[in-house]
Amino acid sequence: MVSAIEIIESKPSVAPASSGAHIEVKQVSHWFQQARGVLQVLDDISLQVAPGEFVALLGPSGCGKSTLLRLVAGLEPASVGSLLQDGKPITHPDPSRIVVFQDPTLFPWRKVWDNVALGLQARGILKAQRQRVDDALALVGLEEFADAFPHQLSGGMAQRVALARALVNDPQLLILDEPLGKLDSLTRLSMQSELVSLWHRRQFSALLVTHDIEEALFMAQRVLVFGPRPAQIVSEIKVDLPYPRHRGDPKLAELRHEAMRQLGVDQSW
Ligand SMILES: Nc1ncnc2c1ncn2[C@@H]1O[C@H](COP(=O)(O)OP(=O)(O)OP(=O)(O)O)[C@@H](O)[C@H]1O
Ligand SMILES: [Mg+2]
Repeated sequence: MVSAIEIIESKPSVAPASSGAHIEVKQVSHWFQQARGVLQVLDDISLQVAPGEFVALLGPSGCGKSTLLRLVAGLEPASVGSLLQDGKPITHPDPSRIVVFQDPTLFPWRKVWDNVALGLQARGILKAQRQRVDDALALVGLEEFADAFPHQLSGGMAQRVALARALVNDPQLLILDEPLGKLDSLTRLSMQSELVSLWHRRQFSALLVTHDIEEALFMAQRVLVFGPRPAQIVSEIKVDLPYPRHRGDPKLAELRHEAMRQLGVDQSW
């Protein structure tokens, strides 16, 4: 049987992004005003994503991971500290940094092609660059579904459309907030491989939040472990293994044991 990833490998792809973004998060703390008072969510977080690097974040539910991603995306400013992209402050959302969420949130009345075209349309460059939409669909192996409506897709296919919608912008940083969280376990495994393959070919930087230790270790070059809210980085695991990785690799199993030890494994993960 030909796997989805082999199908994708054989498709033409858009030229890779020139290089991934260099992201620096410097001593960032963040608070929210809630009805019951002020809630501190992030506590002195400092981290870097090197150009083209794939970094994963693991941490307990509610510790502040999505909040950090929102700050990196420029969706809101940090209460304290600074966030930089290639040395320049991140002050607002930008097409060079794209977020993919757990829920693909496609517009049900728009065909797959039109959903993917959204970013280019919003920037007023769709007419001149229609080919980019076709290329992005080919990249995720869905060009034959360009005319389908979202309700005609499986969950995995819908998530691939969401990825194409992100990749059509040729992002320098792909921000992934549990993008595979709602998929069944088999689709999830194949999407992990597909994402790694896309990252490998397009050379963007990637920042992934996941609750799944195996997923983080299979995909990322470095895994940062957050403690409970307000989140601090409690440890870092370097995954010094080449790609493509093999799930049965004994080194991955060793790292998994190390990660479990560092995490002190908690039921809330
Ligand atoms: N806009 C907001 N206003 C007020 N409080 C918020 C806001 N966004 C998030 N919070 C609070 O900040 C805390 C961290 O939320 P966040 O979504 O960052 O957690 P998370 O680590 O992504 O959790 P999960 O793993 O469950 O997705 C939560 O207690 C949440 O209630
Ligand atoms: Mg979250």
